[in-house]
Amino acid sequence: MYKIGITLTQYIIEEQRKTAQASGEFTALLNDISVACKKISSLTRKGDLIGILGSAGSANVQGEEQKKMDVITNEVFIEALQNNGHVAALASEEMDEVYNLPEDRVRGNYLVTFDPLDGSSNMDVNVSVGTIFSILHAPEGILNPTAEDFCKEGTQQVAAGYCLYGPATILVLTTGHGVTMFTLDRDSGSFILTRENVQIPADTREFAINMSNQRFWEAPVQRYIAECVAGKEGVRGVDFNMRWVASMVAEVHRILTRGGIFMYPLDSKMQKSGKEGKLRLLYEANPMSMIIEQAGGMSVTGYERILDMKPHSLHQRVPVILGSKNEVERVYSYHKA
Ligand code: AHG
Ligand code: MN
Ligand code: MN
Repeated sequence: MYKIGITLTQYIIEEQRKTAQASGEFTALLNDISVACKKISSLTRKGDLIGILGSAGSANVQGEEQKKMDVITNEVFIEALQNNGHVAALASEEMDEVYNLPEDRVRGNYLVTFDPLDGSSNMDVNVSVGTIFSILHAPEGILNPTAEDFCKEGTQQVAAGYCLYGPATILVLTTGHGVTMFTLDRDSGSFILTRENVQIPADTREFAINMSNQRFWEAPVQRYIAECVAGKEGVRGVDFNMRWVASMVAEVHRILTRGGIFMYPLDSKMQKSGKEGKLRLLYEANPMSMIIEQAGGMSVTGYERILDMKPHSLHQRVPVILGSKNEVERVYSYHKA
């Protein structure tokens, strides 16, 4: 147990001390990431004052419209990570290929994948957005890692986290020993440890799904949601509540705070257009699944555990069903029935 009120920097130095032979590089990398998150937090707060809202007039590799802030936050991450010798390469939702460092930069021992601005459609309407990141070991002695080097099972993540830019800016981190939350204190400019050993309640009466896709869902998801919506009068015998922020970071944060189930399942519309899901395995599903599992929750596609999947490509999409254990277990069992 740590003392509530210590800074993220103190926390990661303490964590480093627990590991024999730790070089300090991982600590320094987490520090770089926290600096990027602070910059993004500050930008999100300025909004229209500095002309950063609206479309960038471009599309990413997945054909999605890029917002100005998708492009800006991607740059913030690259700048924060490429100059200090802690990463070997980067991969982002907003970049077509692996980002290899300029030739003159020192290569470090880690790979980082990130969704620099999650929920970016919420930026223009002033609703919570976030950043998601995942850290992997880099292959040894390789100057320019390839997509294949990033395509590792989620179980191989060294650490994962997100930063939520809401009423407060909160950085949530796991290094595989539980989940810790840090709140940005704007006066001191430091992330302060505010919660540790976060545990998701196993039961919940709150679900999050985009209901506008209902007619496209597969039978197991139809069944689960129909039972929730039937409430007290249905087979579950209890009323459920619903939330949909459309920022995965905000949904996961709510679930870590008070429980719940989040679903972006496979549907027939996706299948028709050759998509395997909506959310991205390397930038969204894997880091969030690690956090959820570390907090005692569960995360599956419906058919398998997300962290066990062997990625086939950098921008692979995947169905996601995560949150309170007993509810996710139930949806999973409906897929097997
Ligand atoms: P991004 O802004 O990084 O593209 O991610 C948006 C994702 C996720 O955060 C959210 O849960 C989902 O897309 C919302 O999708 P709909 O707009 O279909 O509801
Ligand atoms: Mn996203
Ligand atoms: Mn994004």
